[in-house]
Amino acid sequence: MCEECKELVDPKEEQLDQILAHHKREKGALIPVLQEAQGLYGYLPEHVIKHISRGLGIPSAKVYGVVTFYAQFRLTPMGRNVISVCLGTACHVRGGAKVLEAIEKDTKIKDGQTTEDGRFTLEIVNCIGACGLAPVMSINGNVHGRLNADQIPGILAEYK
Ligand code: FES
Repeated sequence: MCEECKELVDPKEEQLDQILAHHKREKGALIPVLQEAQGLYGYLPEHVIKHISRGLGIPSAKVYGVVTFYAQFRLTPMGRNVISVCLGTACHVRGGAKVLEAIEKDTKIKDGQTTEDGRFTLEIVNCIGACGLAPVMSINGNVHGRLNADQIPGILAEYK
């Protein structure tokens, strides 16, 4: 917060302006700008969406429309621990859905959501290349394999 004008000061705004300047003249600039802005902030906060809207001359309702249409974009920050549960073919046939159900029950969140305390974000993925260990989930890149639903609370308890 700026002491004088009480406006929110965004330390990354200069980089965001560079992204906008880089893509401004391209046709279809919105998607690459959103991707790079998300790379910069980790998600797409409201003030960033408004800044992009002004920068590209696209109504913010339209920018929101694009952000909410594509699963790759996030309007909320990621949790401290990102659970990626696999529902690819091998994991699916070996009980991946039951593992997912146990995670949802324990964390009280669904795919794409983050717990209120910011501890977990849950995402469903298709194959993480560990089919031999199916069903599989990874937390912050650590792979947990040959899972059953009963193991979930104990594993999640390791991640604070
Ligand atoms: S299908 Fe789950 S790791 Fe490949």
